[in-house]
Amino acid sequence: MSEDAIHPKDAPRGEPVTFFKKDRREFLMRLGIGAGVVAVGYQGAASLRSLVPNVSYDAPTTVKLGLPGDFPDGLKFLPDLRLFVFRDNKVFHAISAVCTHLGCTVRAEALSSIETRTVAGQPLKMTHRFQCPCHGSRYSGDGGNVAGPAPKPLAWYHLSIAPDDGQLVADLAQEVGHDFRLTLA
Ligand code: FES
Repeated sequence: MSEDAIHPKDAPRGEPVTFFKKDRREFLMRLGIGAGVVAVGYQGAASLRSLVPNVSYDAPTTVKLGLPGDFPDGLKFLPDLRLFVFRDNKVFHAISAVCTHLGCTVRAEALSSIETRTVAGQPLKMTHRFQCPCHGSRYSGDGGNVAGPAPKPLAWYHLSIAPDDGQLVADLAQEVGHDFRLTLA
């Protein structure tokens, strides 16, 4: 059909109605412009988003545990955190209660006789050992895996003192070696 064909609205009644090439070109041009606007808008939104810092809304990994005075000498179990906190006078360390096999909560068993051993070059008073009720893994007082399917020792976590209120703080994302100790002044 030629460019100067009769517009469909002017076509006599009963005649077949056909789009003009001009109309089709205009339609395709507008479609192209629309797609371009969407692409530019998307790119602009992505650029603006890159200016906003990424913020994690995950649960914080540092947890206040209470004042050091709230912890008696020996072991205190914090069930909500599945964490054992040990105190030997002014010295603290924390061991995870999460079994390294399949994640059950291990139980502490008091030793019949308390002894001090050298662990990772540091003295450590052994008051307990640990046992997993699920598949029988056993751990020594420093969390070392000694029997059962547990593939590795219980995790030790970093402890510090909160500068604002003096509470004990555990960082559950920061594992430390078995030589770690928090010693109060
Ligand atoms: S989950 Fe502890 S031994 Fe399997």
